[in-house]
Amino acid sequence: MRRLLPCTILSLFAACSSDSAAGTVGNDILKRPRGLENVELVTAADNPLTAAKAELGKQLFFDARLSGTGQMACAACHLPEKAFTDGKALSTRDDGKQNTRNSPTMHNVGYYERLYWDGRAKGLEANVLAAWKAQIGGKPEEVAARLAGVDAYQKSFQAAFGKGPDETTVVHALASFLRSLRSGDSAYDRWEASGRKEGLSEAAVKGHELFSGKAGCIVCHTPPLFTDRLFHNAGVGMLAENPDIGAAAKNALDDASKTGAFKTPTLRDIAKTAPYFHDGHATTLREAVKYMASGGTENPHRDPLLLDRGLTDAEIDQLVAFLETLTGNQPWTAPKLP
Ligand code: HEC
Ligand code: HEC
Repeated sequence: MRRLLPCTILSLFAACSSDSAAGTVGNDILKRPRGLENVELVTAADNPLTAAKAELGKQLFFDARLSGTGQMACAACHLPEKAFTDGKALSTRDDGKQNTRNSPTMHNVGYYERLYWDGRAKGLEANVLAAWKAQIGGKPEEVAARLAGVDAYQKSFQAAFGKGPDETTVVHALASFLRSLRSGDSAYDRWEASGRKEGLSEAAVKGHELFSGKAGCIVCHTPPLFTDRLFHNAGVGMLAENPDIGAAAKNALDDASKTGAFKTPTLRDIAKTAPYFHDGHATTLREAVKYMASGGTENPHRDPLLLDRGLTDAEIDQLVAFLETLTGNQPWTAPKLP
């Protein structure tokens, strides 16, 4: 993607007024969305969350100045209208190489101790630095010098950190922005808040019952985040000649019992994040649900919690109807780049 002029790209889904400035992170930065009142963000001791850092990080996330070629921003693969995914099975990096895994949502990444599909990043700051270098080919020193040459950035970095752009302040700002992307207040959350009385269709209520009962989804996709934040083998891609071993890798959890295991993805905003699975092979939500409800693909490392639940087509539809109620309701305005 070219240097992002967010208003051209983002006007498709959001009002993009010229005075939107850095946007809506604002004073709501520490406010917990409905449904997530009782979950704690995982923060870094040396990077307490502030609105100033998150606003700056929001601009940096959309700014292709951070990349090696000057052409690709983080947002190229993490688009706000798709809950910060990209709609592709696999994406291409700034250096032209293809990724081997699907771009995950950025919503609620602030709640993970371990990130990436295989858990190799210990914390958001480590993840952001890795993504900056690998995905968009960022060279921290060069980028810092480039940003330091932009007056408005100098001011924002000084205001947020009391110093100018460098590897650490760029990473801390990006991580702060990502921690602000909390998704709750979905139709499901409002239904829960009403004592399970109002707002869900009959099909969605039945889907919720299945999800929490006979279909056995809730054990891994545990509310309120709809992930247990752990790693399981569902058999995705395991029949390939050289399957992706996922969390078992030396630089990840280094645990052979986790062969082919991947982080349980959140199901919040799932209706917006097709295609599905770490390899992006499932094009529709229904296909993904059917795959999971039939126990995934059998292989020697498959998680014993995955079984063929023998659901009917109507029951699969009900599960889908329920998952469609997990779309969040957070306000969004595009950042304006200096
Ligand atoms: C070319 C596409 C692409 C670009 C550009 C990109 N990412 Fe990603 N991102 C991915 C893919 C693919 C993954 C999953 C990789 C994996 O798990 O091995 C990912 C994963 C992540 C995760 C982990 C989420 C989780 O739930 O574990 C974070 C955080 C992240 N990216 C942040 C960023 C940031 C910050 C930038 C810019 C510095 C960025 N990404 C740029 C494709 C991209
Ligand atoms: C044993 C734990 C476990 C159970 C039980 C489970 N899942 Fe999953 N689910 C996972 C993991 C792990 C993945 C990611 C697999 C991969 O890509 O390799 C996943 C992926 C998904 C995805 C794709 C998400 C995305 O962002 O790509 C959907 C949708 C899904 N599961 C729905 C369900 C439903 C519906 C049920 C119940 C029928 C269910 N899951 C049961 C662990 C589980």
